[in-house]
Amino acid sequence: MVMILIKLEIDRRAYNSIKNFSRLVYTKAIKNRGDLPKKEEIVTLTYNGKFVAKALYNPKSVILKILTTEDEEIDYDFFYKRIFNAKIYRENILNYKNTYRWIYAEGDELPTIIFDKYNELGAMQLMSKLIEKEYLKDIVDILFELSDLETIYVKRGKKGERIRDKIFGDKNKFETVIKEGDAKFKVNVRGHKTGFFLDQRENRLYLEKFIKEGDRVLDICCYTGGFSVHAAIRGAEVVGVDLSKKALKLAEENIELNNIPKDRYEFIEGNAFEVMKEMIEDKEKFDVVILDPPAFTQTEDDIKNALRAYASLNYLGIKLAKRIFVTCSCSHHVDKEMFKRTVISSAFRAKKELIMIDYKGQAPDHPISIGNKNLEYLKCIFFYVKN
Ligand SMILES: C[S@@+](CC[C@H](N)C(=O)[O-])C[C@H]1O[C@@H](n2cnc3c(N)ncnc32)[C@H](O)[C@@H]1O
Repeated sequence: MVMILIKLEIDRRAYNSIKNFSRLVYTKAIKNRGDLPKKEEIVTLTYNGKFVAKALYNPKSVILKILTTEDEEIDYDFFYKRIFNAKIYRENILNYKNTYRWIYAEGDELPTIIFDKYNELGAMQLMSKLIEKEYLKDIVDILFELSDLETIYVKRGKKGERIRDKIFGDKNKFETVIKEGDAKFKVNVRGHKTGFFLDQRENRLYLEKFIKEGDRVLDICCYTGGFSVHAAIRGAEVVGVDLSKKALKLAEENIELNNIPKDRYEFIEGNAFEVMKEMIEDKEKFDVVILDPPAFTQTEDDIKNALRAYASLNYLGIKLAKRIFVTCSCSHHVDKEMFKRTVISSAFRAKKELIMIDYKGQAPDHPISIGNKNLEYLKCIFFYVKN
């Protein structure tokens, strides 16, 4: 069992935000900062000397992550309860069946853990060495016990500690086919992040509403063909663009898996900015354009550069779009309003009038608990291009 010895006194503001369900505390809110541990540790937070929460502290970060506001042990039962509740939310409230994001870090009160279930295959991104060392075995046992999982892949999460990839269960299984509405996708858990972007599931399904037979669709940063496949099964001709050769290979396999004839798709390996510029020079047009770039910023300091990148990408996308323009951002540090303003200024520059059809976010199996704005990251705007 992990010994929790260090007590840190927090200020009133941090106390109030924890009472309002916030799961993060900045080190600047700690009054006895000199007592912060030198290595990753679970600490007790107090206010006026009284217990408030147990939190995970890593000296490499200025953020402490709340594990619990109950004075309870952090043990097998603690993880069981949370993992079980997370499953109930996905299966009984959201009615997802075999494939879903089962654990979304603080969104499920399990900081530093991300876990996706794809049928019998699971993929975890872990960001804490302490959780790995002390609790990973329990967590994996619980996941197997509560499901039909046969294999669990564990890899190092974004900005996380150096955690060696591990495989639990059937070691030869790393690929499965999932269903998303009428579309089928091969998911390879050795791919990017956990292998597939489940956060866009509802947005990909929503796209189908706007596709007409024979449409030309441009899917920028298409990865393994998520939006392309949904457009193609509704009768569109698709062009997907991505930097990653490996992702494009899987995109092609996914299109084929959905029985789309060869003359209705093309995947281009290249830089989205360059490819779109060339398309504009060649006077190409697309009925539908989708932009789903990577997070252009990982830090708050970099927002300006990120907004510049979004502005150019959106300008190019809007220029190429004839009827529907879908634009996404997965940057945590660019909020909804900021992103919308950037897209609108790109539309002004492109001299195109856009009508906002809908402003969507991440799939609900990436829960945003109130008081935790940091959990909200995906933005996806659907526009009608008026002229
Ligand atoms: C968020 S993912 C897209 C997910 C995809 N829309 C889906 O539904 O699965 C972003 C993709 O952008 C690609 N990418 C990053 N920078 C790029 C660039 N400059 N040009 C083209 N693709 C890029 C990455 O390889 C990655 O596949």
